[in-house]
Amino acid sequence: MKIATIGKGTIGGGLADLWEQAGHEVTRLGHEGGDVAGADAVLIAVPGGVLEEALGAVTGLEGKTVIDATNLYGGALPPGGHASNAEYVKSVTGGPTAKAWNINFGALYDQVAAASTPPGDIWCGDGEARETVETLHRDAGFDPICAGPLSNAAAQEAMLTLAFGIAKEGGMGQFFYRFAPPADF
Ligand SMILES: NC(=O)c1ccc[n+]([C@@H]2O[C@H](COP(=O)([O-])OP(=O)(O)OC[C@H]3O[C@@H](n4cnc5c(N)ncnc54)[C@H](OP(=O)(O)O)[C@@H]3O)[C@@H](O)[C@H]2O)c1
Repeated sequence: MKIATIGKGTIGGGLADLWEQAGHEVTRLGHEGGDVAGADAVLIAVPGGVLEEALGAVTGLEGKTVIDATNLYGGALPPGGHASNAEYVKSVTGGPTAKAWNINFGALYDQVAAASTPPGDIWCGDGEARETVETLHRDAGFDPICAGPLSNAAAQEAMLTLAFGIAKEGGMGQFFYRFAPPADF
């Protein structure tokens, strides 16, 4: 697959490394932006509060399958009155859209391959994005956990509070997680 990442830091660069190891062709865009017209899938991994500015520097987004990994902090709201950053992204691109990788820690990506069971990653989004999103999860070493339609993205973005609660106040530190049916336990 041809993949473009908007953002090439911990998440954008980290997933780009994993996807390249799986044989995908990845173009990494930073502050300067660029064109994604040739991509089969686009990952958005910029600070959640600069989403409008970052997308404004990118051409070729129309109709693309997009995975939004952004998080908002400190009570910041998604742009344009949307319920979630992911729904704002869809309002810009008009294509199949998913929320993924916002509930996982980029600093652990280098430990994914050594895990005895693929770590889970909760994602939600459009059905038309499912095959691409789940393939890219498996190729990065993650087990995709589908959490329903894109209208659930606000709940998934709010889940960051729980993830930080587990990691910090709960004392676990950065973690992997898994959801599975009883037969798998
Ligand atoms: N780190 C994590 O563990 C983690 C986990 C889940 C979700 N997230 C979310 O994923 C997103 C990326 O996090 P990260 O840790 O990868 O951040 P990061 O390492 O700081 O990388 C940020 C990337 O965004 C680009 N960027 C920053 N400001 C921009 C702007 N105004 N316009 C365009 N591009 C801009 C940077 O461009 P340059 O390369 O040109 O500087 C950089 O490539 C955030 O929304 C974060 O909340 C992070």
